Amino acid sequence: MVEARSPFGAPRRHYRLVDSTNERARELAATGAPGGTIVTADEQISGRGRRGRHWSAPAGKALLVSAILSPLCAEDALLPLAVPLAVCEAVESLAPIRCRIKWPNDVWSDERKVAGVLIEAQPPDWAVIGIGLNVSIEPDEFPDDLRHPATSVGHGVATERVLEATCARLDDWVSAPLSRVVAEFEARDALRGRRVGWTGAGGVDGEGSGVADGIDERGNLLVLTADGQRLSLGSGEVTLTVDRSTRE
Ligand code: BTN
Repeated sequence: MVEARSPFGAPRRHYRLVDSTNERARELAATGAPGGTIVTADEQISGRGRRGRHWSAPAGKALLVSAILSPLCAEDALLPLAVPLAVCEAVESLAPIRCRIKWPNDVWSDERKVAGVLIEAQPPDWAVIGIGLNVSIEPDEFPDDLRHPATSVGHGVATERVLEATCARLDDWVSAPLSRVVAEFEARDALRGRRVGWTGAGGVDGEGSGVADGIDERGNLLVLTADGQRLSLGSGEVTLTVDRSTRE
C-alpha cells in the first residue's frame, strides 16, 4: 500500500517562457520542494524529450508541466507506465478520443502522438514527471522531422482544464498498485502484435526485431523473435521503431 501523498497542483510556479519546466522542477526538488509541486510554462526554449531529443510546441498550445513526486517508494517502479495512463484518462475525460500507449510512455490517439513523458529521478528522494501534451496545435505547426506523426487533443479545450484533469488522474495513478498499472497498460498497449525493431545495448545485444508481446511485471517490453526467443527490453536500454505497415 502506497502512503497518501500530497495532490499534484500546489504549489505551482508558472512561466510565460522558460528553458525547460523539467529543469526548473529538478532545481526545486533538489532544494527540498514538497511533493505535489508543479512547474508549468506557456513556452519552452529548450524543452527536453526522451533520449536527448528536443521537445518544442508553439506558445500556449500545449500543456507543458513538470510535477514533483517526493519521496519515492518501491511502488514507484512502474511510474513510467503509470504516468501515460493518467494522461490517457485526462485526455479522454475532455475530448471524444481514445488513447493508447506506445511503450514505454508515448500517448497515441489514432496512431498519432498526442503526448510524451520524460521522467527524471533522484531515487529515493524525488522524481520529476515531465509531460508535454499537444492541446490545440494545428497539423502544419508540428515540425516536419518528427519521428512519429503528431496530433492534438482538439480545439476548444483549455490548457488549464487539461492541467487540472492531468493532475487529478496523476494523483490516482502514482498511488496505484503495480498489478493495476500492468493490467491497464496491457489494455492500452498500442504495440502488442506489431513488428518492432530496436537498437541499444544492455541486456540485449546491438539491434534486432520481433513482434511485441506485452510487458512483464517490471514494465519491460516483451518481444518474440523469429527464432522463437522471448526477449525482455528495458526502456532505458533501447530505441524502438514501429513498423507502421503491420498494424493488427
Ligand atoms: C518525449 O516524448 O520525448 C518526452 C517529451 C516530454 C516533454 C515535456 S514538456 C514539459 C517537460 N519539460 C521538458 O523539458 N520536457 C517535458
